Amino acid sequence: MNRYRNTFLAAILIGILAIGCRKEFAEPPCETPVSGTPYVFPTMPFFPEMDIPENNPLTQEKVELGRHLFWEKALSGNNTMSCGTCHLPTNNFSDPAQFSTGINGEIGNRQAMALVNLGWANDFFWDGRALTLEDQVIQPVTNPIEMAQEWPEALEELAAIDIYPPMFEAAFGSPEITQTRAAKAMASFLRTMVSYQSKFDLSRIGMAQLSESEQRGLDLFQREGGDPLYGADCFHCHGFGAMQFSDYLPRNNGLDSIFTDLGYGGISGDPLLMGKFKTPSLRNVELSAPYMHDGRFNTLEEVIEHYNSGGLPSPTIDPFMKYTDGGLTLTDMDKEDLVNFLKTLTDTAYVNNPAYQDPFN
Ligand code: HEC
Ligand code: HEC
Repeated sequence: MNRYRNTFLAAILIGILAIGCRKEFAEPPCETPVSGTPYVFPTMPFFPEMDIPENNPLTQEKVELGRHLFWEKALSGNNTMSCGTCHLPTNNFSDPAQFSTGINGEIGNRQAMALVNLGWANDFFWDGRALTLEDQVIQPVTNPIEMAQEWPEALEELAAIDIYPPMFEAAFGSPEITQTRAAKAMASFLRTMVSYQSKFDLSRIGMAQLSESEQRGLDLFQREGGDPLYGADCFHCHGFGAMQFSDYLPRNNGLDSIFTDLGYGGISGDPLLMGKFKTPSLRNVELSAPYMHDGRFNTLEEVIEHYNSGGLPSPTIDPFMKYTDGGLTLTDMDKEDLVNFLKTLTDTAYVNNPAYQDPFN
């Protein structure tokens, strides 16, 4: 009897929620697209499934809107800058400058991150301060040293541009332009930015063969560091079990003994997180120089030299860097092979994919 009553109550509750959603329609978590064509990823047979939020299913209409917003200069305070200004396709959607310059000429203090396979990451920014892509994409707009525009103003400007009301309608079922909808569209676009056709990927399915040097580099990447194994010990942090060359954890890879940027620790205040930064994916890394959160290294050779040196000690240095006490003692050939392996992660089909380029050009 009780069970039936509970089922009955649950049915009523679901009914109320459904009506509530339909009435409000515009805001999460209820909003579901009333129109839209499901977006289907190209084949990536050996990739894990991407976690897509239930309240933001991927549709072609949303992705196309997201691409326009990504390249839309009206989102910035003086209409001169889009997301793509700092996240250049040719540079793996990052900035070749060590620090990016915002609309007011102010220079930031972190290297613009590469945008690649973000749908598999746990959190966003070097300090992980955004937990979802929907959260992440709203921040650059208002950031005073980036696009420097308040959202209400940005939304008004979008509403006045012909193409947007119909695009929002196609994506969300009505032409209202809200911050939540804009964020959902941009997050959807970012999720579709998937690199999966590097030489490394193709070699996994027998469509390419790594050279002897590249294969040796891969072996070094995968082996523990330090005597007597003499590997380069990259895999603990940049593992490719989930195919992304990162475990996406906050880690301190020994760049500094005294931190000028606290990384994750600056957000949470947790002493154990001081000087830790998001472990980045190495996909397309050849194209995303300069390297590290502060862009201190210009070449992959310099990066390898850093790891080979063993890094600088500090209270939060990663235990996996301890293997490298005294350095990795890599030979010149080892270093060259490692760099050659890293270059097999280059995917020019990704950076040239027309689906990600500026639609206003
Ligand atoms: C002025 C240059 C600039 C502009 C414009 C800009 N970004 Fe960024 N982006 C950066 C920098 C710098 C970082 C790293 C900031 C940090 O960690 O604090 C970053 C980080 C990111 C990340 C995090 C990636 C990761 O792996 O965690 C995403 C996603 C991103 N930006 C998307 C966008 C989107 C979407 C826009 C437009 C709404 C945008 N960016 C506009 C410079 C810029
Ligand atoms: C202890 C974990 C750890 C190990 C081991 C490690 N890395 Fe890293 N790697 C990181 C972290 C964390 C960052 C970002 C650090 C920062 O910017 O403060 C990083 C950054 C990088 C970057 C720069 C990427 C970018 O977009 O700026 C490259 C390249 C890189 N690592 C390659 C390697 C290679 C090659 C090895 C092996 C020789 C290796 N890493 C070993 C954690 C690690």
